[in-house]
Amino acid sequence: MLRIENVTYIYEDKTVALKEVNIDLKKGRKIGIVGSNGSGKSTLFMIFLGLLKPTKGRVIFNEKELKYNSKTLSELRKKAGIVFQDPDKQIFFSNVFDDVAFALRNLKIDENEVQKRVNDAMEKTNITALQNKPVHFLSYGQKKNVSIAGVVAMNPEFLFFDEPTAGLDYRSQENVKNILENLADKEEKTIVVSSHDMNFIYEICDYIYVLNKGHVLSEGKKETIFLNKEILDKAELEEPFLVKAYKYLGKKLYENEKELFKH
Ligand SMILES: Nc1ncnc2c1ncn2[C@@H]1O[C@H](COP(=O)(O)OP(=O)(O)O)[C@@H](O)[C@H]1O
Ligand SMILES: [Mg+2]
Repeated sequence: MLRIENVTYIYEDKTVALKEVNIDLKKGRKIGIVGSNGSGKSTLFMIFLGLLKPTKGRVIFNEKELKYNSKTLSELRKKAGIVFQDPDKQIFFSNVFDDVAFALRNLKIDENEVQKRVNDAMEKTNITALQNKPVHFLSYGQKKNVSIAGVVAMNPEFLFFDEPTAGLDYRSQENVKNILENLADKEEKTIVVSSHDMNFIYEICDYIYVLNKGHVLSEGKKETIFLNKEILDKAELEEPFLVKAYKYLGKKLYENEKELFKH
């Protein structure tokens, strides 16, 4: 339902940010886009959301080539939402509730429905207790949750998270991990997560695309990709801790850290 074909993107200053990239979101429910700084992750997300138009290639939405008119783009925005890396770029309003409600009210959705969806989104992101607080008093981790809630309230089918754990402390990272897992496993959403944090991606994603200097170096199920040191080295990425425990300490290949320490 949403994929990109042969996408090349060149910025005005001639930086080639993406080269002939093919990504199909049907391949997993929890898709990881991994790559070091500057590999093209954020550019890729803006292409998927229709915020940037490919220099070459196309975005396929509902089996049709995406057109960049306001009608088609607003259809796309209903199906696909993005949580940007920096929550301050996504937050506008004076208190948490109004901030989460912002996009829904913009769409002129009935206020009873807005209340219901905002309350539900705040529950799912653990910010209900903060609802009357001014956003500018919140911690960075709390602001992150508010920006996630704003997208969850829109109830899209695809949710893109650009480096969702960047700058968060351990507890906030675990919280974000739980929110993303629930969205994918309980709500059956497709989540697309970019990161250079291999431990995070290893624990939550099922299908991986490895980006390197704007092109897809490799793609595959998470076990296949993360056991291939050659690919990780080439992309300048670290082996996840659990893969190291398996390869060098003779442990089983565990899905997450909790399982390892149970044994
Ligand atoms: N607005 C811009 N103008 C010119 N070059 C840019 C711009 N934004 C990003 N780039 C360049 O495009 C490449 C990919 O960047 P980006 O998509 O931000 O990568 P990532 O998110 O993986 O760090 C980098 O070389 C970056 O310097
Ligand atoms: Mg980025």
